[in-house]
Amino acid sequence: MFSGGNEPRLVAAATAQLNTLPFYHSFWNRTTKPSLDLAKELLDNFTANKMAKAFFTNSGSEANDTQVKLVWYYNNALGRPNKKKFIARAKSYHGSTLIAASLSGLPALHQKFDLPAPFVLHTDCPHYWRYHLPGCFTLLLL
Ligand SMILES: Cc1ncc(COP(=O)(O)O)c(C=O)c1O
Repeated sequence: MFSGGNEPRLVAAATAQLNTLPFYHSFWNRTTKPSLDLAKELLDNFTANKMAKAFFTNSGSEANDTQVKLVWYYNNALGRPNKKKFIARAKSYHGSTLIAASLSGLPALHQKFDLPAPFVLHTDCPHYWRYHLPGCFTLLLL
């Protein structure tokens, strides 16, 4: 029985890569051939919008931290160095790194870690029982 991680094609591909080059970073315009091939395949197959770049990360947390960095980089490049705030939902989960945990709207991820970071603001979430406005009713479309 195969369940994701032990799928034979994935195991064979990972083994082949481990025998070739187990790891290499992707900073300063360096990367590996499998990363290049996957990026090309993703960009070729993604037709909704034409994209020119792919950025791979190792986890959802790292992906979210990277998005924050890219937004800051973009705003700094456009001469908007004060545009640093992010608004995230209460009760959301965005990961476990410092930025991703800050974006998460879960007190358990903040307490005892001095989080959330000051650039994160939290707003409520679509949760009628906890956050509905007096007199507002949820419309159920069945
Ligand atoms: C919406 C969302 N963002 C981020 C993460 C964090 O991903 P990771 O556990 O790979 O760091 C998760 C994980 O469940 C998630 O569901």
